[in-house]
Amino acid sequence: MKRRIEMATLQGSYLFPEIEKRKNAYLVNYPEAPLISLGVGDTTEPLPTLVAEAMGEYARGLGARESYSGYGPVEGWISLREAIADRLYQGRVAPDEIFISDGAKCDLGRLGLLFGQEARVAVQDPAYPAYVDASVIMGQGGTFNGRGYSRMRYLSCTPENGFFPDLEGADDIDVAIICSPNNPTGAVLKREELERLVSWARQRRVTIVYDAAYAAYIADPDLPRSIYEIGGAHEVAIEVGSFSKLAGFTGVRLGWTVVPDRLRYEDGRSVQADWRRPISAYLNGPSNIAQAGGLASLREGWGELQEGIAFYRENALILRRRLVELGVKVYGGSNAPFVWAHFPGRNSWELFDQLLSKAHLVTTPGAGFGPAGEGFVRLSAFSSRERIEEAAGRLAALFEA
Ligand code: MLT
Repeated sequence: MKRRIEMATLQGSYLFPEIEKRKNAYLVNYPEAPLISLGVGDTTEPLPTLVAEAMGEYARGLGARESYSGYGPVEGWISLREAIADRLYQGRVAPDEIFISDGAKCDLGRLGLLFGQEARVAVQDPAYPAYVDASVIMGQGGTFNGRGYSRMRYLSCTPENGFFPDLEGADDIDVAIICSPNNPTGAVLKREELERLVSWARQRRVTIVYDAAYAAYIADPDLPRSIYEIGGAHEVAIEVGSFSKLAGFTGVRLGWTVVPDRLRYEDGRSVQADWRRPISAYLNGPSNIAQAGGLASLREGWGELQEGIAFYRENALILRRRLVELGVKVYGGSNAPFVWAHFPGRNSWELFDQLLSKAHLVTTPGAGFGPAGEGFVRLSAFSSRERIEEAAGRLAALFEA
């Protein structure tokens, strides 16, 4: 068969497998190296007991005729949609605007189907690499020009602009993918910043895809956890949420997408009605076992869940504090599970190699998230306390030396 031009246009390999490859290559030469991973944001701590029990019970029920069940509703269990609307959105969105899925990443990819190949998609720079790869695979990328893709728009987010996406010159975009708390920078959009973004989108008829996968890490009550806390957002924004970092479901797979009823195409037709088509075509609803766990997370497991989030949040603060003590300029880490460390003038892949070989720490090089990530490395807080403390000690030994 003929290879699709879009596949040929993709650059290199996806970031996290590339890091895995480099880590494994290092281990071939130094098999005894006591590596600590602060790379991919993958949860490490056990699930809340009540959540694991709910999933176990559901799975056991599948083994008995009386309690066996097959497909669930394509948009997910109504009980779970109600729990999300209530617990996470305080009624700002209705249960029937919420579509449960097999994960935020899967939905972020499928959303491209709504916008089509002609859409001009903007991402923050730096950004979670799945946004760019999914857009290019969809055919929205154009050609690669050495720095980025010709048809995509990159909204620079740097310490100089307070990590607020640079909207200057971004006049021709149809869709803007915005992530807050941000992966990788850990920056969180303030209420007035989000208001500015929503008002810009309304004026320019831009649809915002708001990735709020890390919203649970916001500790500051003044910071918005959802774009729907902003007036007028229901008319321009789709929000994607995840149980991965909220409940430790990275391997369980469960997420959701909010498509508000008020979000309309130019001709007044319902975007929500259209969204049912790709999810019906690609998904027979999410796993029932995962949904049982999701429901328990928002009900009986909620208290334990908060402890888990506080634990990773403290991990981020430990890393952040240590880097600050060492005189490294750091961002994020206080309302986000990622610490974004700045080493001006340094090549971030070289920093990655140095941290790997000299401190046995696996990190993520900032340049892997886009050109504006050069000079940065990202440290993930998803690890045990013992490892985080050990990692903080190794950072001190490396940078004090
Ligand atoms: C990351 O490390 O950027 C994310 O955790 C990866 C993911 O969610 O796919």
